[in-house]
Amino acid sequence: MDKIENSKNYILTPGPTPIPPEVAVKASLPIIHHRSREFVTIYKDVTEGLSYIFQTKREVYILTASGTGAMETAVVNLLSPEDEIIVASCGKFGDRWIKIAKKYGIKVISVSVEWGKVIKPDDIKKSLKLNPNVKAVYTTFVETSTGVANDIKAIGEIVSKTDTILVVDAISGLVGQEFRTDEWKIDVVIASSQKGFMIAPGLAFITLSDKAWKFVETSKIPKFYFDLKKYRKFYMMKETPFTAPVSLIITLQESIKLIKKRGLEKMWDNYKFLARVSRCAMKALGLSIFSEVPCEVVTAALVPLKIGDKIIKILKERYGISIAGGQEHLKGKIIRLAHMGYIDITDLLLGFACLEVALIELGVRIEKGQSIIAIEKELMTECNNY
Ligand SMILES: Cc1ncc(COP(=O)(O)O)c(C=O)c1O
Repeated sequence: MDKIENSKNYILTPGPTPIPPEVAVKASLPIIHHRSREFVTIYKDVTEGLSYIFQTKREVYILTASGTGAMETAVVNLLSPEDEIIVASCGKFGDRWIKIAKKYGIKVISVSVEWGKVIKPDDIKKSLKLNPNVKAVYTTFVETSTGVANDIKAIGEIVSKTDTILVVDAISGLVGQEFRTDEWKIDVVIASSQKGFMIAPGLAFITLSDKAWKFVETSKIPKFYFDLKKYRKFYMMKETPFTAPVSLIITLQESIKLIKKRGLEKMWDNYKFLARVSRCAMKALGLSIFSEVPCEVVTAALVPLKIGDKIIKILKERYGISIAGGQEHLKGKIIRLAHMGYIDITDLLLGFACLEVALIELGVRIEKGQSIIAIEKELMTECNNY
């Protein structure tokens, strides 16, 4: 076994995801100036594409930041110190809303559930009734740390009937699974580049409803770089307030072109299929799915005897395959295999074949070949018991 040496990298992590070659090559084009006419044309095309992907008629602003930068933007622009908010969290990234809000002196009412469980929209409804001063509800669409997808449509229905706004972290779910900003009545949506968008990390996105803009007008938290009023002003000229990450935006233009060509709905269907395949394959290995309501972009499965970290090490060091493990108290207890972005069925076949070998090496009793048989069955549309 030690003789096997792999020099290729296979990324099956829930961000960053692999980048299509036609997108990757765009990063090496000679730089153009961010205040030039050429760039304005590209920026216009990209922002229109973003509105399509967010399924909104509104403007979508591009920030030079990772996803957390957009989360912080959604806190500092909408609130004032001492404001009360509800955070509905079901994992590490939901909890991040709490951490950011507390840094800015916001009072947080937590409507959180155990990691692995799904947020109950009714809990939010009850909490809003009990706490009439709440300004906003912050939550997460796909909770990447647990593989759970929350019912944002139902939450949007509840919050839209109040004076409160709904802020959703769609960083992991956007592009990968059905998400409709306007139709689902979501006031603020954030996302970032390194997941469904299939480009490198470094860009974050945010869109706001008219109702949310009224909150921006009264917000008293100090901000400079992430001041959304600046982004709105420059958006009119199809520019960014500060030096734009030109090369990243050019790659984004190419990835949006691919998404549009394929069609968002078709992409959602494809990831739904990959998610079903992954769940079947995990179950065929005797591993149970960790998530109460599994999402369509990453599959989280429980592994025996806290061997999660060892599986990850073997896959990476021997086969060049990166998958993710559990975070915080789930470390070693779960593995997470992604099917977002440029990951396809062939990647999954490869991932599961090597996962089987790693499990056997670690002494887990599995029936050899079962995950591959399960995938083949799904491919032949015979297995529907997920
Ligand atoms: C749902 C979710 N929210 C927030 C983040 C944080 O994003 P970043 O690491 O890009 O700052 C992540 C990253 O994985 C995520 O999956």
